[in-house]
Amino acid sequence: MSDRDLSVVVFGATGVTGRRVAAYLAERAGETGVRWAVAARDAAKLERVLGEIGVAAPETIVADVGDAASLAAMAARTRVVLDLVGPYTLYGEPVIEACVANGAHYADLTGEMPFVRRTIDAFHDRAAAAGVKVVQANGFEALPPDLAVLLAAETARQRWEEDLAEVDLEVAAQQPAGRLGLADLISGGTMQSTAEVLGGEGAAETADPAVLITEPEAAAEVRRRSPISLTPRFNARGDVIAPMTPAAFINPAIVQRTAALIDAERGRLAEPIRYREGIAIPGGSATLPLRCAAAAALGATQAGFRVLSRAQPAVRRRVADVLRRILPSSGFGPSGSRLDEWAWQVAVDARTAGGHYVRVDVDADGHPAYLATARMLGEVGLLLAEDGATPERAGCLTPAAALGTARLDRFERAGVRFSVSS
Ligand SMILES: NC(=O)c1ccc[n+]([C@@H]2O[C@H](COP(=O)([O-])OP(=O)(O)OC[C@H]3O[C@@H](n4cnc5c(N)ncnc54)[C@H](OP(=O)(O)O)[C@@H]3O)[C@@H](O)[C@H]2O)c1
Repeated sequence: MSDRDLSVVVFGATGVTGRRVAAYLAERAGETGVRWAVAARDAAKLERVLGEIGVAAPETIVADVGDAASLAAMAARTRVVLDLVGPYTLYGEPVIEACVANGAHYADLTGEMPFVRRTIDAFHDRAAAAGVKVVQANGFEALPPDLAVLLAAETARQRWEEDLAEVDLEVAAQQPAGRLGLADLISGGTMQSTAEVLGGEGAAETADPAVLITEPEAAAEVRRRSPISLTPRFNARGDVIAPMTPAAFINPAIVQRTAALIDAERGRLAEPIRYREGIAIPGGSATLPLRCAAAAALGATQAGFRVLSRAQPAVRRRVADVLRRILPSSGFGPSGSRLDEWAWQVAVDARTAGGHYVRVDVDADGHPAYLATARMLGEVGLLLAEDGATPERAGCLTPAAALGTARLDRFERAGVRFSVSS
């Protein structure tokens, strides 16, 4: 890749998240001198959108997912393509094909798990042979949990030479003051991606914690030991814990694949981790029954999605058609200064088979899904582009398997801080 004139290209830089990735890289290029570019299908729109948020990109590339030659030309010029063109179920594959064929690392934000599984089946061997990293799900779901669990696992191995047996992961978030509308919480791109998962091939795999484990016996063991529970519960401090929101089916599958990839490298199949996660419902002025009701409503939403994902294809397709029409689409989503006014934390409490405990904390600023996510993805792009900054592995990888834990300090610049506290 040493002959490339660019280090990172942000493809889909007109989108709600893509424009924020471009803004982050513009700042980082000022500090590092990295050569980067933005790419989109419509150059005039790109110029207008980036102008509105005051981002000056050094170069603009025109590329369309329907035009393979434009994707190949983009991938051939850069070390890394950051792909923000979703829904990935519809648009992801040609971009990955272009990257693998032209020797560029690929990173995206997908949470569309059947698509991630299809990517592994179609590209893992080719990407590994080409020395290319295909890294999916680098957003709030699932980069911070994935890296935090790997950090806990490495700490346990270093301290006691033991593997993790159980992990409890909790997320807490503090929103901006005042009333939040739907557009402050979730983008049209994310809603359309959810509709595509429901209507797409292999939808029933969405809720499978072992969807990314390719070895059947190991997959069965993950399903047995670590099913995804959608029942609200209390933690040890008595806080109400709801299923992960907005999606309860992304982090578990990614965390299990990371463990399987690392185990395979070590030449051993450890017992799968019993992984459990949830989001804390804040106390504030809400009474306990109100918080329990909120947790139950979030659980029911996820359970409803799981039931629908297992329905007959004709039913799923009909529901997906309705959702595509009624849900907001591209361009709808959080913007402006309110993106900055969020804070969030991830706490990992892990236990080894021998009964030792490790705690890892992640403390972060910025809207989890549309600002912190964009900054993290920008930093992923810089790390992947840098010689020696990430492990030698190649193929279809999880964020933690692709990045390792040696340069976690780099995410501090993105407002995301990792620490091992016990
Ligand atoms: N896991 C997470 O935590 C997380 C967080 C944030 C986002 N995401 C995911 O990231 C994806 C993007 O979200 P978003 O809200 O930023 O979406 P968005 O605002 O809809 O942006 C989509 C982008 O794709 C581009 N695009 C669409 N069709 C194209 C084509 N044929 N060729 C080239 N570009 C094309 C759009 O370009 P135009 O402007 O020209 O239409 C736009 O730049 C979604 O799948 C979402 O679920 C995940």
